[in-house]
Amino acid sequence: MKCFCLIAFLATVIAQSYSDLGVEATSSDGFVSRNGVQFILDGKPFYANGFNAYWLTYEATDPDTRFKITYALQNATCHGLTIARTWGFRDGGYRALQTAPGSYDELTFKGMDFAIAEAKRLGIKMIITFVNNYSDFGGRKQYVDWAKSKGLNVSSDDDFYTNPLIKQYYKNHVKTMVNRVNTFTKVAYKDEPAIMGWELMNEPHCRADPSGKTLTAWITGMASYVKSLDSKHLLTTGLEGFYGDSSPQKKNSLNPAAANVLGTDFIANHNLDTIDFASVHSYPDLWFPNLDEKSRLDFLKNWLEGHLEDAQNILKKPLILGEFGKPSNTPGYTQAQRDAVFNVTFDTIYASAQKDGPAAGALFWHLISDGMNNFKDALAIVLSDKTSTVNIIGQQSRKLRLIGGKRKLNRKIKT
Ligand SMILES: *[C@@H]1O[C@H](CO)[C@@H](O)[C@H](O)[C@H]1NC(C)=O
Ligand SMILES: *[C@@H]1O[C@H](CO)[C@@H](O)[C@H](O)[C@H]1NC(C)=O
Ligand SMILES: *[C@@H]1O[C@H](CO)[C@@H](O)[C@H](O)[C@H]1NC(C)=O
Ligand SMILES: *[C@@H]1O[C@H](CO)[C@@H](O)[C@H](O)[C@H]1NC(C)=O
Repeated sequence: MKCFCLIAFLATVIAQSYSDLGVEATSSDGFVSRNGVQFILDGKPFYANGFNAYWLTYEATDPDTRFKITYALQNATCHGLTIARTWGFRDGGYRALQTAPGSYDELTFKGMDFAIAEAKRLGIKMIITFVNNYSDFGGRKQYVDWAKSKGLNVSSDDDFYTNPLIKQYYKNHVKTMVNRVNTFTKVAYKDEPAIMGWELMNEPHCRADPSGKTLTAWITGMASYVKSLDSKHLLTTGLEGFYGDSSPQKKNSLNPAAANVLGTDFIANHNLDTIDFASVHSYPDLWFPNLDEKSRLDFLKNWLEGHLEDAQNILKKPLILGEFGKPSNTPGYTQAQRDAVFNVTFDTIYASAQKDGPAAGALFWHLISDGMNNFKDALAIVLSDKTSTVNIIGQQSRKLRLIGGKRKLNRKIKT
């Protein structure tokens, strides 16, 4: 086991927390909470660098491949990465979590238990998503198909947001998840501080209603439901952050044109008391395939700054960049281009965090471990490759952690 960097890292953290003892009366239950535009952990502002690893439960389902979770999370902490975003679903199909509405595969659930237990052991906070927009691993299409197979007259995947039976299926999944008692830690998910928060859906879209109202109504209902069962955890939407009718100017100046039919509204969808922080994703390469690299970087900076401004002034909540990356299959791709994307992203997050702003962290898409070639795609990052991007990731982790560790609780909380 290569634990040297881990020990060095922990020593720094411990030294740092001792030097801060007595700074502030704190609740130290280990849950991430929020105060105004900042996250709070154990009485201090919480800023953290993180990653996506959607495959954790899948690989943990088979006890023989569980070491991959341990390796990946261990190496992540070596690079100071302490937030992991992962899928809390696999609806139907191979290694399903939910095999049919309300039926769960215990082996797969034990896989998720293991991933959470390892994150807890290693000091990583998890953001867990309840369902997918896309049909990968089931998603809302699977929910609609389940309803169809019960003889319901549902025609479009967007009936997911309005059909009472499908909404009930979703609620049942939420209920099963939050009440699940982890077989390794014996702690119910709803009482587990290693879980930082829940996400309603990965990248929800609703083309059936481009006004965004259908999605806002669904988010309103489901967010209240989550909160009625679990009051300890934070909640967000999982949106990419496309603007809608609540912000005509930004809809016009910032949205990729193709996003205007997706039925999302960054402000309306997040401006609810039950939503604790804002979710944004950023993929200029996919959204603007014909732009040059410089223009894409300019977009990236404007996109992030635009949302941070709204999180600060309108939503008054923290913001997490839930996904970003630079695909290696973009024509003309170089490692330096990927570095530039990470630099611009991280610098924008850091600039906000440094002045007590709402940016709490950015989670790159996506982390895999050695020997996971089946998950290696154009966005995969292997930390042991020791690329320049990996160095940039480690630097950002240190910078963010220093802000969180050194700073007292925000002087004046605006409400
Ligand atoms: C979101 O999911 C729906 C339903 O599966 C799909 O039709 C739509 O294409 C997805 N959105 C995008 C941008 O792919
Ligand atoms: C199913 O719903 C569609 C419209 O949503 C309607 O046109 C059709 O007549 C319905 N079919 C049945 C069998 O109720
Ligand atoms: C990224 O930032 C680092 C310093 O933080 C710098 O050394 C490096 O040259 C930058 N790379 C690019 C491509 O901007
Ligand atoms: C992760 O850590 C293990 C041992 O701790 C090591 O063998 C492996 O190479 C590392 N993998 C990555 C992706 O860094």
